[in-house]
Amino acid sequence: MIVNGFVFKNPLNTKGFLSFGSLLFLLFFTSLTYSQTAEAEKNFTICKACHTIGGGKLVGPDLKGVTERRDEAWLIKFIQNSQEVINSGDPIAIQVFEENNKVPMPPNPQLSDEQVKELLLYIKNGGKLPDGVVSKEAITAASTEDDLEHSAEVEEAFTEMKYDDARHLQTTFIVMIVLIVISLFDLLVTKIVQQKWIHIVIILISLIIGGEVVFVSATNLGRQQFYQPEQPIWFSHKIHAGQNQIDCQYCHFTADKSLHAGIPPTQVCLNCHNQVKTGKITGEVEIAKIFEAVNSNQPIEWIKVHNLPDHVYFNHAQHVAIGKVDCEECHGQVEKMDEIIQVEDLSMGWCIKCHRTREINIENKFYDQYTALHEKLSSGDLKRATVVDIGGEGCQKCHY
Ligand code: HEC
Ligand code: HEC
Ligand code: HEC
Ligand code: HEC
Ligand code: HEC
Ligand code: HEC
Repeated sequence: MIVNGFVFKNPLNTKGFLSFGSLLFLLFFTSLTYSQTAEAEKNFTICKACHTIGGGKLVGPDLKGVTERRDEAWLIKFIQNSQEVINSGDPIAIQVFEENNKVPMPPNPQLSDEQVKELLLYIKNGGKLPDGVVSKEAITAASTEDDLEHSAEVEEAFTEMKYDDARHLQTTFIVMIVLIVISLFDLLVTKIVQQKWIHIVIILISLIIGGEVVFVSATNLGRQQFYQPEQPIWFSHKIHAGQNQIDCQYCHFTADKSLHAGIPPTQVCLNCHNQVKTGKITGEVEIAKIFEAVNSNQPIEWIKVHNLPDHVYFNHAQHVAIGKVDCEECHGQVEKMDEIIQVEDLSMGWCIKCHRTREINIENKFYDQYTALHEKLSSGDLKRATVVDIGGEGCQKCHY
């Protein structure tokens, strides 16, 4: 399947679990909430892979004091496209390039002059945000590794419970079938029990319970909570989004603009891995696969983890950009996962449960069209507006 230009193998569904642990899971995974991070901090996550501020040289020079040693206009040009400045014959740029073994710095055409200026302020400030803005780093640092291990245990317990439960369902179903067969056999052939109503009651009860089992199994078929396929490259979100603080949307850059969050094209990996060629855990083996893909001109065949049925319409931009729902609320603490696991069951009940309780910011100009709703709110008929008040329960909103 090709989604948004990226190749996804759509896996065969193997796990049709019952879903009831999701509530506890939601509680567990949302115990941490992020406050909004400043834009400069976010933009600096790109630089962090190669630069420190006062922590010594990485791939590129330590940026401490850079705002004093170079002039602003030069820095803006250099950060947006260093190779252009070097090629123009600028002596300082050439000197820096040579001092750094001629490792090119990737261009940043996405950053406007204003954004670079903010970045420079952030660097000048020693990598700290202005007062009053809580850093994402501080919050992540506060959450211990213990959490992670604990969550792995809980996760395992739940998975086992689910398997067990599926087994109970199967056993119940078989017992019901056997009871029906025995009753029918006695009713028609052996006739040991004389009162026919006994047969009928047993058959009816069996049919009702058996029917329910089939119904429950069928509605869970196709769901794959806790699905965690093995990916073609050992790509760790814990290393990238956690330890290296790379922003989710640096890679999933269509999450706030389109239906799909998208998987980054291999080119995005190269932005850094042209320089970073070995990992602490897997050495050169896994990173080399990026170059294999590039050299053979093949996209990396990532396996899609989260899959909604085709009849459901889900839009990332609507939730991320307008609804301001954190990735974490739907995907769990991805920055702590080496391998992505689906933590929610993505059932209809799950979507609607949030829509019923989630308040919307009615001041958003996006909601101007809901004039009746505005009137009800200002007259006090309605205390707060939830997603349901703008139609979040309408079948046609979520179904094609
Ligand atoms: C893939 C690694 C890499 C990334 C990512 C990166 N840089 Fe660089 N940077 C370098 C290297 C290497 C140099 C040395 C100059 C050269 O070789 O072109 C450098 C040089 C610089 C310089 C000049 C330093 C001096 O002493 O004059 C500045 C300023 C700078 N980078 C800022 C940034 C900013 C801001 C970002 C993020 C938007 C960033 N860099 C992202 C590798 C990187
Ligand atoms: C350096 C790039 C990069 C960053 C940063 C990154 N991701 Fe990813 N993400 C990927 C790649 C590559 C995949 C596909 C492989 C996989 O599933 O692990 C992926 C897969 C995912 C998936 C599973 C998609 C599916 O198949 O259903 C989710 C969910 C996700 N990322 C969320 C996040 C969140 C949330 C963050 C920020 C905390 C984040 N990502 C940061 C590159 C990145
Ligand atoms: C309201 C819940 C919700 C939020 C918030 C959310 N996602 Fe998703 N995400 C989903 C669902 C549901 C799917 C499965 C979509 C499908 O199969 O069509 C999905 C799929 C994905 C995928 C697989 C590729 C794709 O686009 O279908 C990635 C990657 C991803 N999400 C990343 C993110 C990132 C990064 C964020 C935050 C910027 C985020 N998501 C926010 C619910 C959410
Ligand atoms: C913004 C920079 C950046 C981007 C983009 C990026 N990486 Fe990385 N990656 C790193 C850094 C930094 C490391 C850490 C090396 C270390 O210390 O282990 C790393 C490590 C790795 C490792 C080795 C992990 C280990 O410890 O063994 C793999 C594999 C990897 N990245 C794959 C990818 C893939 C695939 C993509 C594209 C989807 C990608 N990376 C995009 C910066 C990046
Ligand atoms: C964690 C909370 C949350 C979850 C889970 C969630 N949503 Fe939403 N959803 C929102 C918010 C907030 C909005 C309001 C954004 C807006 O106004 O467009 C919204 C809006 C929508 C809308 C537009 C409603 C309208 O009337 O304009 C659709 C469609 C939608 N969601 C589909 C889904 C589907 C499908 C799922 C499950 C796969 C889902 N949502 C799960 C929070 C959530
Ligand atoms: C907020 C989004 C949302 C709304 C509103 C919604 N649905 Fe669904 N619906 C879903 C999702 C997501 C699934 C997929 C569930 C799954 O895979 O288990 C689904 C599945 C279904 C199914 C398939 C059976 C099943 O449980 O998988 C039917 C039938 C259905 N919906 C009917 C309706 C009807 C009728 C309405 C209006 C009363 C409605 N839906 C409103 C999101 C929604």
